[in-house]
Amino acid sequence: MQSDPRLIAALDFPTAEAAKQAVEEIGDAVAYYKVGMELYYAAGNDMIRFLKERGKKVFLDLKLQDIPNTVASALKVETKLGVDMINVHAVGGKKMMEAAARAVKEKAEELGIERPRLIAVTILTSMDEAQFADLNYKNTIAEQVLALAKLARDAGLDGVVACPQEAEAILSACGPDFLFVTPGVRPAGSALDDQSRVTTPAQAFANGSSHIVVGRPIMKAENRKEAAEAIVEEIRIF
Ligand code: C5P
Repeated sequence: MQSDPRLIAALDFPTAEAAKQAVEEIGDAVAYYKVGMELYYAAGNDMIRFLKERGKKVFLDLKLQDIPNTVASALKVETKLGVDMINVHAVGGKKMMEAAARAVKEKAEELGIERPRLIAVTILTSMDEAQFADLNYKNTIAEQVLALAKLARDAGLDGVVACPQEAEAILSACGPDFLFVTPGVRPAGSALDDQSRVTTPAQAFANGSSHIVVGRPIMKAENRKEAAEAIVEEIRIF
């Protein structure tokens, strides 16, 4: 069965060995992997090279936030790794995001490679209204997510990571080409784990997502390849 580049499988593992084993098991059922903080701090660029040698796309999910110059410099290094998608926190502000977008574009042009897509994290989905209130923003979470998505678009970013319930408002404000990467995806009948606002793979695309990020439903399945293939099949008609 053909893989689907809109499915991004999260390699949330503490060691390179565990992650590499998962990639070998899944084989050609997944074309796009997400490497987050845990695996990147454990396995570093060797993991990125391993995935690239196998022809996989890579979303390097390090969620950067610092002063504009520092973020821009770090993103130049990430761009040089040849990854396909990278991200920053939108709360770093417009100047930080503009510097980030400029750095990625310039570095990719200098190297003559395709520019990695740069997306923003708005408000973490682990944040509930009570915790959010402690931060003293004047908006609700939904209003704040939308405001940050628009700021990211105005700064020249390619899209956002956000939960599916936010898709309609964000895509109508930011346009249908704005990337909408959705975590918290659970095929019908699978465990919720610690995700609370979940959607099925099919619903996520029906809502306008451009990509879904799926971790445990694949990585903790008895047969990881079959679990990935079932998701590819479910989203085929979208
Ligand atoms: O195992 P599960 O499918 O819940 O994994 C989802 C992945 O997406 C994890 O790597 C998690 O860190 C990430 N993520 C998330 N919610 C966000 C942003 C990223 O679950 N808002």
